[in-house]
Amino acid sequence: MNEVIELIGSALWFILPAYFANAAPVILGGGPPLDGGRNFTDGRRIFGDGKTVRGFVAGLAAGTIIGLIQGIAKSQLSHYLALGFLLALGALLGDLLGSFIKRRMGIERGGAALGLDQLGFVVIALLLASPITLPGWQVIVTLLIITPPIHLATNFIGHKLKLKARPY
Ligand code: CTP
Ligand code: MG
Repeated sequence: MNEVIELIGSALWFILPAYFANAAPVILGGGPPLDGGRNFTDGRRIFGDGKTVRGFVAGLAAGTIIGLIQGIAKSQLSHYLALGFLLALGALLGDLLGSFIKRRMGIERGGAALGLDQLGFVVIALLLASPITLPGWQVIVTLLIITPPIHLATNFIGHKLKLKARPY
């Protein structure tokens, strides 16, 4: 039991910048879309109106600030700063990739893609952070297990707080 709680604690500590990068755009996003309103070759939007320039910048800043705070707390500023930036960038690129795939599948903006919506950002965040730190497989498995319910729960709360149009 204690081992499980420790594992979840390590996993959350590691992935925190990615979580903040994923959540910040919901509050701070909006405005011009990243794809400039353009369509892909299939006639559908490249990313759609749910992926905005402001959301991307806000997410990158939020995740990097979390890395900065972690670095101050652990007296390892440059390490955590770089890690926070890469985890945040990965989370945002993973989220973008998810939207790109959804549009190609004909799923409109805001439509659900179970699995992709909850895990895409974490997988790409881990990938981008891996040159600096690749956590042990136990932590990676833990992240893949705990992230979908956490993502769904925070989105549900965001919906209740009227920050998000849909509850997932
Ligand atoms: N958001 C943003 N910029 C981003 C990512 C998200 O502005 N780069 C904001 C948008 O207001 C978006 C909200 O955060 O509606 C929730 O994000 P998400 O659920 O990822 O977007 P969806 O609207 O569901 O669009 P998609 O179907 O493309 O995932
Ligand atoms: Mg969504």
